[in-house]
Amino acid sequence: MSDPAYRITDFFNKLGKYKSYEEFSVFMRQYWYVWTIICLIGVIMIVINVIMIVYFHRRRRPFRQSEYFKQNIESSRTKTIMVPEKVKENLLAQEASDDTNSQFAMDALIANNKYRALHNCPPLKYSSNLAKIAQSWADTLGKMQKLQHSPTHWRRFNNSVLGENLCYLFNSRLTGEKMMDIWYAESKAHNFSLDKQVDSQNFTQMIWRNSREVGFGRVKGTNGDWWYGVAIYMPSGNVVGHFAENVPPVSL
Ligand SMILES: *[C@@H]1O[C@H](CO)[C@@H](O)[C@H](O)[C@H]1NC(C)=O
Ligand SMILES: *[C@@H]1O[C@H](CO)[C@@H](O)[C@H](O)[C@H]1NC(C)=O
Ligand SMILES: *[C@@H]1O[C@H](CO)[C@@H](O)[C@H](O)[C@H]1NC(C)=O
Repeated sequence: MSDPAYRITDFFNKLGKYKSYEEFSVFMRQYWYVWTIICLIGVIMIVINVIMIVYFHRRRRPFRQSEYFKQNIESSRTKTIMVPEKVKENLLAQEASDDTNSQFAMDALIANNKYRALHNCPPLKYSSNLAKIAQSWADTLGKMQKLQHSPTHWRRFNNSVLGENLCYLFNSRLTGEKMMDIWYAESKAHNFSLDKQVDSQNFTQMIWRNSREVGFGRVKGTNGDWWYGVAIYMPSGNVVGHFAENVPPVSL
């Protein structure tokens, strides 16, 4: 009777075979622990589901932020500003070691436009909305502790994917100038008579003639002295078939 195998067989034999309410209630009382176990399994499944929902909800946060930006970039595009020369000079004069994120962004813009001028490409305008997207992704990279592109559906805007440059730096504060130098260094590997190339896409995006606006983000990783930098460009560069007219060689 107490043999578990017998009890399991007995349970299934009796299950559903009661002819009266009395038989049913005897069966229920005899196997009360089975119903307890079933209830416990139910509770555990609910808990697991809640944990999974919370986990995926947290992972989805950047995507939901993007929805916000999608709706807001358009309405506030007129706020896009050029940085005045005086402000640039004052900020550049400060110590790079205690730069703020806004100084980082201005340094990056100046350095980016300096390199564009070398290639006879027009200066980019700074966009605070693109900067929010860039900073949001930089924050994500800082938490993930690795360099990877944001999902393309996350940085879609106006039916096209925004351009995204990434870099990291170990053991040294990432300044705007350093970030641009890292990307511009790829120009050495670039063949200006070819189209898209794997090793120079940060360079070709930063120079890309048809890109008009940019925003920058930077973060120090939560673990160790890793710095992550992000730039978001609009319209996106690196369009296959259009490298020759958008990435001209240095013009003297
Ligand atoms: C969206 O794309 C269209 C066509 O490419 C362009 O004419 C328009 O200016 C773009 N709008 C914004 C807000 O960038
Ligand atoms: C660049 O590409 C062109 C066209 O394929 C080729 O003739 C040339 O040798 C390449 N230059 C370098 C430096 O690889
Ligand atoms: C820029 O460089 C980083 C680091 O090498 C790389 O992960 C990233 O894919 C590059 N960006 C593009 C647009 O290729």
